[in-house]
Amino acid sequence: MMRILGFAMAGLLLTGAGSAWAAGELEAQGREVFAHWCEPCHGDGPTFPGTTALRAKYEGKIEPVLSKRGDLTPDFIKINVRKGVSVMPFFRKTEISDQDLEALAAYLTRQ
Ligand code: HEC
Repeated sequence: MMRILGFAMAGLLLTGAGSAWAAGELEAQGREVFAHWCEPCHGDGPTFPGTTALRAKYEGKIEPVLSKRGDLTPDFIKINVRKGVSVMPFFRKTEISDQDLEALAAYLTRQ
């Protein structure tokens, strides 16, 4: 009996570690998607149009650099990416797949 319990617990521990690992993988993938598609506009510095627009929009009250923000939700990110906003273009599934978008949302909401 104890032995079965032991196996069950080891199994639980392994799945726990597995999902933490999977989350890390997803964020790493999201970081790559962000670097390719978003960073040219949302990078950290004075010359990025997205960052500049968000700095003006929030008047410095909210962090303008997307990758440093802690208040973004996955749904908000997905809607903005699929529909576009102001001068920001929308992105097609042939550019950013649903899986890439999941990863991107995981990366941007990791805090
Ligand atoms: C061509 C430049 C450009 C690219 C590329 C771009 N964005 Fe944007 N993005 C903008 C601009 C400009 C705004 C601000 C629009 C406004 O004035 O409300 C914005 C706004 C946003 C917002 C809304 C933030 C808020 O608080 O209102 C999100 C979320 C966002 N972008 C995510 C992304 C993601 C994720 C990517 C990559 C897939 C991306 N953007 C690529 C220019 C860009």
